[in-house]
Amino acid sequence: MLTDYHCHILPGIDDGSENTEMSVKMLGLQRQQGVERIIATPHFYAHREKSVDNFLKKRDNSYKKLIGSEVDLTNVFLGAEISIEKGISELDGIEKLAVEGTDLILLEFPYTGFKDWMPEEVHNIACEFRLVPIIAHLHRYVSIFSKEEMEAVLRMKAIFQINNEAFAGFREKKFAAKLIKNGVRYVFGSDCHNIAVRSPNFDILKKEFRKKPEIIEASDNIYEKHIL
Ligand SMILES: [Fe+2]
Repeated sequence: MLTDYHCHILPGIDDGSENTEMSVKMLGLQRQQGVERIIATPHFYAHREKSVDNFLKKRDNSYKKLIGSEVDLTNVFLGAEISIEKGISELDGIEKLAVEGTDLILLEFPYTGFKDWMPEEVHNIACEFRLVPIIAHLHRYVSIFSKEEMEAVLRMKAIFQINNEAFAGFREKKFAAKLIKNGVRYVFGSDCHNIAVRSPNFDILKKEFRKKPEIIEASDNIYEKHIL
């Protein structure tokens, strides 16, 4: 089941879809591209939110706006893209941000450079709550992390998420292809935010692997392995 593990399709909750109309268009595009399972992952920045529970209320309200629209919500699941901040593993209720019905949780490294506490926070979330971290769009950090820092990240017990757009670039494509070849656990996502420059883009991925569908299937199959 073609799965988008990372997207910002919920209306009016982050810098993704601006309103219900845009969400309907984004979901429509995903379906046209053959995406059958969608994990909605609005940004969660601990320092901007009152609490996890408050964020979850906002997320529910956002999702409810899609109910009753013409959009097909079959196999749309709720999650979040949690920015790793110092101390995040101790935030009350952080485990509630896991992808609903699974032990998967999508975590995003900041773009400010690598710090030793970052993998520690990831490790603590995983161990404390028995969750499996998905590290968002790792290829984006090739020019931010040193080789050694990237190796430290890759040693973590985690699944690594690749944005489809990585296959449209040179350096990021090379990095993503190497990840896949080296046998790490990976999943794909559109990380779509709108219907303009960051729109649903599974067409890129399908074109890239038209002769190797098993590469995409390996990503899709991760979900089933993590259903609780
Ligand atoms: Fe994202």
